[in-house]
Amino acid sequence: MHGLATLLLLLLAGQAEAFRICAFNAHRLTLAKATREQVKDTLVQILARCDIMVLQEVVDSSNKTISFLLQELRRKFDGSRCYGFLNSSQLGRSTYKEKYVYIYRSDKTQVLNFYQYEDKDDLFARAPFVAQFTLPSKILPSVVLVPLHTTPKDVENELNALHEVFLDVAQRWQIKDVILLGDFNADCASLAKKRLSTLLLRTEAGFRWAIADGEDTTVRASTNCTYDRIVLHGEACWGLIRASAAFNFPQSFRLSEEEALGISDHYPVEVELDQAPHRVQPPSLATLLLLSLLLPLLGPQSSTVPDSNPGLCPPTWGRSNP
Ligand SMILES: *[C@@H]1O[C@H](CO)[C@@H](O)[C@H](O)[C@H]1NC(C)=O
Ligand SMILES: *[C@@H]1O[C@H](CO)[C@@H](O)[C@H](O)[C@H]1NC(C)=O
Ligand SMILES: *[C@@H]1O[C@H](CO)[C@@H](O)[C@H](O)[C@H]1NC(C)=O
Repeated sequence: MHGLATLLLLLLAGQAEAFRICAFNAHRLTLAKATREQVKDTLVQILARCDIMVLQEVVDSSNKTISFLLQELRRKFDGSRCYGFLNSSQLGRSTYKEKYVYIYRSDKTQVLNFYQYEDKDDLFARAPFVAQFTLPSKILPSVVLVPLHTTPKDVENELNALHEVFLDVAQRWQIKDVILLGDFNADCASLAKKRLSTLLLRTEAGFRWAIADGEDTTVRASTNCTYDRIVLHGEACWGLIRASAAFNFPQSFRLSEEEALGISDHYPVEVELDQAPHRVQPPSLATLLLLSLLLPLLGPQSSTVPDSNPGLCPPTWGRSNP
């Protein structure tokens, strides 16, 4: 009886929930910064929204910053969620280096594959660190993420080179469904509107820009630029899009501009994908009635979250679970 009710609950939850993929330029994220009380709390709340988060500007030669954030996430959810991570090496042309770091719900998705794009002609300040993740969708069982944080000095060239990375990934893994995302600096002084429309990712067919021009992804009231973007390729991928937006965290968490700038000068950008195939009908009235009858029978033990049992968490690339 309990098993049936739980199953029904899971079915319902699966249909209501979306799978959220995010990208966030966390502005020179060091361990010292992450451990500041105000920064930590907000960062953890931002991370907790996402099934996969692509952090940029992680300035961390060890894995300490990420380990710290994972520990805080685990503390927040007390074993009811599992998290894993995958990081690039330190990337950059000068002594200033940053990493791409994926933080993901390892109870909902797994890393299938990853590679560091080989940037033979030094086209990128920080070449994409590509990763393929499973998706809880029958229509699209996996998707490839291609993150990029461009240097503001060379946005147009880097974004055209990003099209090359897309072709490389598509060929290498024989896939079409790819999400390119990150702080592209694709607006304002870094990229004129006229140049934007000539980018290969705009002129070639098949790419959908989910964060529209004109959407402000910057924290400062004095700026209004669409720097951060999410671009989706592949019809299956498009078909799953439910919503996409910049997440105005200062507003949601009631932070002043100054407090928000302590975390980042960017908003995260997010896209929500449907988990269930479109064909599935919403739960019928009969199902809902049955559920309402079964729910009182569940008793207290079924409503508790799983214990803090690391054995429940699947193995991950990053050793994230204790
Ligand atoms: C992740 O970062 C660590 C520490 O900087 C490094 O040793 C490791 O090689 C990185 N992972 C990848 C896949 O580059
Ligand atoms: C930013 O500019 C766009 C027009 O390009 C406008 O539609 C939007 O409301 C502005 N956003 C803010 C927060 O000022
Ligand atoms: C950092 O994590 C990676 C896994 O992504 C691991 O391969 C590497 O050894 C770790 N480096 C350090 C210094 O702990």
